[in-house]
Amino acid sequence: MNFKGASILSVDQFERADLQQIFDVATEMEVYANHQKLTRVLEGAVLGNLFFEPSTRSRVSFGAAFNRLGGEVRDTTGFTFSSMAKGESIHDTSRVISGYVDCLVVRHPEEGAVQQFADATNIPVINGGDGPGEHPTQALLDLYTVAKEHGKNLDEIDGLSIAMIGDLKHGRTVHSLTKLLALFDNISFTFVAPDELRMPDGILERARSRDHNITETEDMIEGIKDVDVIYMTRIQEERFSAPEEFAKYRGKYSLNRATYEQHCRENTAIMHPLPRDSRPGANELDNDLNGHPKLAIFRQTDNGIPIRMALFAMVMDVADKVHDTARDAIWYRPESIDTN
Ligand code: CP
Repeated sequence: MNFKGASILSVDQFERADLQQIFDVATEMEVYANHQKLTRVLEGAVLGNLFFEPSTRSRVSFGAAFNRLGGEVRDTTGFTFSSMAKGESIHDTSRVISGYVDCLVVRHPEEGAVQQFADATNIPVINGGDGPGEHPTQALLDLYTVAKEHGKNLDEIDGLSIAMIGDLKHGRTVHSLTKLLALFDNISFTFVAPDELRMPDGILERARSRDHNITETEDMIEGIKDVDVIYMTRIQEERFSAPEEFAKYRGKYSLNRATYEQHCRENTAIMHPLPRDSRPGANELDNDLNGHPKLAIFRQTDNGIPIRMALFAMVMDVADKVHDTARDAIWYRPESIDTN
């Protein structure tokens, strides 16, 4: 695809060659993401970071990625402090903000809403999550993490086995990741979910149409045996209309160290898009896994920076100029930020 000026709304936009291009640029970004060097290639550019749903990772990492390229960021959070609370339309909001900034990132609770933002402007718009729809940049950083965790090049992803576990109906990250993995060959998908929270048929159909191996089960232990990657997800409380409905599924799946060590292969990577629900009664990914060498969740969040830097550099057409303004970073930074 031609990235210059493009909006990134869905993983449906990508072919395998596009993924390779993004990952090549992301690899170039690692020295900046790892705080060894700094670049000012987007100096003077401004990002509008509009989040109408809660977020920690996406909002801050999109902003930090733009900052690491030398650009500045203007945020809005929630509807309450936006003029949407006074009835302003998506069209008007998008057009107004586009006069102030050079690129938009939007998270919105309604599927398709980010597309509406993009329809109302010619500046690049990046989908930071649209309701239960998609989260394309999360899928890119997830795939980048899978490749790095297993020391594989992108073309070696063929043949991967992955168990996705939890709320597969409402979880936009698993929708995007499944569609992205379906671009490869001979992927073994095991979808572990209660019947009511199964992966939507449209996403299953995408994987089936490309002859991947698909297993659906409600049994987590059956699902986690003999896979390269476990991808746990949170039961998406905010997508249920009644608290008693959500309560039926809360805590149904919980992976801890003992279960992992008893049932998984030694090289199975443990991933989760985060946030994990660490409240009693949920705990889909137990804290006793913290520090386990195969727990990839914080390497996964770290990978959000080079991936999002790469996308900004590509859609703003400066990917080949990033190193032109490079200097050594001179501030103090500990060698490791991990305490366990
Ligand atoms: N993974 C993810 O999108 O996290 P946030 O909701 O914190 O952005």
